[in-house]
Amino acid sequence: MKLTLKIWRQKNAEQAGKLVEYPVTDVSPDMSFLEMLDVLNEQLIEKGEEPIAFDHDCREGICGMCSLYINGEAHGPGRGITTCQLHMREFKDGETIYIEPWRASAFPIIKDLVVDRTAFDRIIQAGGYVSVNTSGNTIDANAILIPKPDADKAFEAAACIGCGACVATCKNASAMLFVSAKVSQLALLPQGKVEAAERVQNMVRQMDLEGFGNCTNTGACEVECPKGISLDNIARMNREYLSATLMAE
Ligand code: SF4
Ligand code: FES
Repeated sequence: MKLTLKIWRQKNAEQAGKLVEYPVTDVSPDMSFLEMLDVLNEQLIEKGEEPIAFDHDCREGICGMCSLYINGEAHGPGRGITTCQLHMREFKDGETIYIEPWRASAFPIIKDLVVDRTAFDRIIQAGGYVSVNTSGNTIDANAILIPKPDADKAFEAAACIGCGACVATCKNASAMLFVSAKVSQLALLPQGKVEAAERVQNMVRQMDLEGFGNCTNTGACEVECPKGISLDNIARMNREYLSATLMAE
């Protein structure tokens, strides 16, 4: 396949960026999208040009590092997949593809297609954990019975990989789908109930401090989420937040 790529290039956070056109050849339809970028980078290096910076790690849909806005869609065309799971057979020979970074003020661009997603780390630090007494009397987690429907819902919420596609897709750059998945994952389980009220308040406070927008129930986040995180989690988090706030008063 031969393609024309229009890729966002930006030297650093301070300088303005722009779309730059690159022709790329020798692309196999069986390559992943990231492998196609590897081919382009090899061609750029051979020509003495600077390769394109982009994030990736596992390349199998687990780590949440890959984060490209492709032809106006987070993680590109296709549902339930990350950028690293996208294959070039989804595109036509000769096609022009637009590749941009996530765009949200809470995710500033570091270089080219790489954005700073440490805002998510700080939200997790604010409450995305359970405190465990390690005095030597700790109960084995398997000894605590959990209703199957609750375990299933917690497991589904725990599938969130923190990629940030929900934020990039949302017209308000809201992080509600991500935060609600992290809140729900713990709030649904007995181990997480102890700190549930404090957790939801702290995580929502940090989310607001980071500058993410609010949720207006558009639902684009759920459509583009590679892990199928449901909007039900946002409703659950809103209920948790309301009851925690009322309890605190
Ligand atoms: S909710 Fe979905 S889109 Fe958002 S960070 Fe988690 S996995 Fe990514
Ligand atoms: S590189 Fe890990 S999810 Fe894509």
